[in-house]
Amino acid sequence: MKGTILVTGGAGYIGSHTVIELAEAGYQSVIVDNFSNSSPEVLNRIEELSGKKVPFIKADVRDRQALKGIFSEYDISAVIHFAGLKAVGESCQMPLEYYDNNLNSTIALCLEMQAAGVKRLVFSSSATVYGDPERLPLTEDMPLSATNPYGRSKLIIEDMLRDLPAADKLNGSDTPWQAILLRYFNPVGAHKSGRIGEDPKDTPNNLMPYISQVAVGRREKLSVFGDDYDTIDGTGVRDYIHVVDLAKGHVSAIDNLLSDNPVTGVEAINLGTGNGTSVLQLVNTFAEENGVPVAYEIAARRPGDVAACYANADKAKSLLNWQAGLGIKDMVIDTWNWQSKNPSGY
Ligand code: NAD
Ligand code: UFG
Repeated sequence: MKGTILVTGGAGYIGSHTVIELAEAGYQSVIVDNFSNSSPEVLNRIEELSGKKVPFIKADVRDRQALKGIFSEYDISAVIHFAGLKAVGESCQMPLEYYDNNLNSTIALCLEMQAAGVKRLVFSSSATVYGDPERLPLTEDMPLSATNPYGRSKLIIEDMLRDLPAADKLNGSDTPWQAILLRYFNPVGAHKSGRIGEDPKDTPNNLMPYISQVAVGRREKLSVFGDDYDTIDGTGVRDYIHVVDLAKGHVSAIDNLLSDNPVTGVEAINLGTGNGTSVLQLVNTFAEENGVPVAYEIAARRPGDVAACYANADKAKSLLNWQAGLGIKDMVIDTWNWQSKNPSGY
């Protein structure tokens, strides 16, 4: 066993896939989650897929006493912090809840990590921190901005985490903070088994779960938000990344933090494929590869959307020795495998 990793939000979409990949790589996970956006059934599926029970604590990450208990019970080597609220539209309607959850969970977590002397952290950031891109592909040194409270919560946390190694220097700390901020592009897909996948609680905000719910008959048709962008076919272009590749990126980040030659201080790293795919390309590939129709209509642009967004993923390759291996076909096939086997989710 290589070490024990505390995974906050480990019952969620990306967290559950990461726990499986951590087990494959020889790490033990401990999950903390409050099920605010996930289901307890995930834990059974994780056990089934990894062949062992993963310790689980039902708690809110803002609960410092609960965190204290976890750090005293388990010998934690590093933390991956997924827990947070993530819906852009909802964040505009309830900004305080978003700031409370996302900021206060990170502050509580870092305080308890510091108290326990565990200062290696992988944080779930997002390509949303690039705002409306000036140039493509996006490199990590490009200007950052936020267009909504969700994005602002990620930006504030990134800044906050950058203050920690600076404080270590002032304080002469001999166990300095090392943090990797992973900026995800558009995670889609599901584990090959079809046992875990994305299961939005309400109407999906994101494209891929919407497509798969139309295909399975839960929704009538997809609205394609705008066909007059300056892109290959007028529809929005994104860098879709298979969630299993993304999960492996977290294992690479943990490998780095626990290696003899880890990053110093805080490093932001894009996790994307570097390829852009349009809405209609994704819809058509889904329908063709899976042999299921996906009804759609062209609708107005969605406020706040950018025309195109895709990563330069070179830094992940050079620093973490990670690159995406799965393509759009794998993403649509694995999404449909999960959705068709679990038509109503968990
Ligand atoms: P998710 O909602 O499926 O998973 C988040 C998990 O955290 C859920 O299980 C939820 O119950 C839990 N949680 C939320 N607040 C909590 C709290 N205060 N205490 C304990 N548990 C809490 O989301 P996901 O898609 O797996 O995303 C994981 C992380 O990645 C989030 O921080 C999200 O902002 C970030 N991210 C996601 C995407 C995406 O498109 N999915 C893109 C970029 C970044
Ligand atoms: N789209 C549709 N119809 C839908 C849903 C989406 O046409 O029903 C289009 C959007 O207009 C966009 C593309 O599909 O062109 C992708 O939209 P998503 O909502 O799936 O993804 P976004 O790129 O808008 O947002 C995602 C995450 C955010 C994150 C952002 C930047 O959901 O959390 O990437 O990283 F902030």
